Amino acid sequence: MNDTITPGLEGVTVAETRLSDIDGENGELVIGGYPIEELATRATYEETVFLLFHDRLPTAAELDDFRSDLASRRGISASVRDVLRHAAEAEKPAMDALRMGTAAANLDTDEEARPFHPIGDEATPALARRLVAVFPTIIATYWRYRQGSDPVEPREDLGHAANYLYMLTGDRPDEAVVRGLETYLNTVIDHGVNASTFTARTVVSTESDLVSAATAAVGSLKGPLHGGAPGPVLEMLRDVHESGDPAGYVTEKLAAGERLMGFGHRVYRVRDPRAAVLSSATDRLIAESSDVDFFETVREFETVAVEALREHNPDRRLETNVEFYTAALLDGVGVPKQLFTPTFGVSRVAGWMAHALEQLDNNTLIRPVSRYIGETNRSWTPAKDR
Ligand code: ACO
Repeated sequence: MNDTITPGLEGVTVAETRLSDIDGENGELVIGGYPIEELATRATYEETVFLLFHDRLPTAAELDDFRSDLASRRGISASVRDVLRHAAEAEKPAMDALRMGTAAANLDTDEEARPFHPIGDEATPALARRLVAVFPTIIATYWRYRQGSDPVEPREDLGHAANYLYMLTGDRPDEAVVRGLETYLNTVIDHGVNASTFTARTVVSTESDLVSAATAAVGSLKGPLHGGAPGPVLEMLRDVHESGDPAGYVTEKLAAGERLMGFGHRVYRVRDPRAAVLSSATDRLIAESSDVDFFETVREFETVAVEALREHNPDRRLETNVEFYTAALLDGVGVPKQLFTPTFGVSRVAGWMAHALEQLDNNTLIRPVSRYIGETNRSWTPAKDR
């Protein structure tokens, strides 16, 4: 047995995948064979999901069918709505509501949402599509209740991204805004065996079910070292903008031993290629925005922070990660800050499902080992004698 401990499993290869390929040294990301720069700006979200599920892009007719299929799976039952209303009334954070709503998806009585899905069951890929389809509805329903409004029913004639924005606001969004969100959803859909994806693969490796995998993955995505960063990034950027002194802000944070949110990555040693895609998408939105000054601060802050981090940590190259421009882009699209991480989930659930199906295709129980470092040779003493 190999007794070497690798903290955080850093650099350990745990699976073969055809879904995405990351080159951390050169800052390249490929999804299903396509460079992220090419795919993210051109594909609809539905096309990218189809690519992950079928390992090829759909024909026009297949895309129509796939869009209709996903759109038909968006509804939630009154029972799931009740769970989300309770979460909103109790002022639970949005990621907790998404986790509860995902788990509660089992309450829906349609055949595909029944709790147990053995390997090879015809209903398993259908349930994967159902989970992708329903995430926006769960989040938007919770958010509407949180605002004291009634939920907006999903519209089958709108695409996935447009319908999500429609359910949040009740208004049909502009094409430029939909394109901005769609670029984001395509950009973060899959990223190797990141923490939440590994969680999903681990859950299904026990022959558990996809709802359990998605629920556990939401819990993993929530943390600030993974998907929980963009909300704090936006707060940081607003603070920096207000201070009018990006350099002073960076110096103060680093001197206090704090981390700059939106910088650094476990795998990338250069700028995260997704940051570049989202930065360009943000540029396109700025043209339509009244917040031009704020975006100028964002650009200046990136330059100043990367420079300061280089001096502060000369041994570790720390550049912008995906979360930095996620904050700017989602803010520009009009997604509320509290929904940044859930919106990451709206995209990534497709990656989780594709990985789960890939894991089930050739399953081995994921079960690493640990090295015992506790006491030895203890002998039992009755409670009265301790
Ligand atoms: N700001 C300042 N210093 C940093 C930062 C940062 N953002 N990130 C890493 N460092 C420093 C650490 O202090 C450490 O320095 P030391 O060796 O002097 O102690 C060194 O760089 C290495 O840091 P690790 O924590 O070992 O790096 P790891 O690969 O484990 O962490 C992570 C990667 C979690 C993303 C980290 O860079 C970080 O905390 N960034 C800020 C939070 C963030 O942006 N999260 C979103 C990640 S992207 C995503 O998951 C989709």
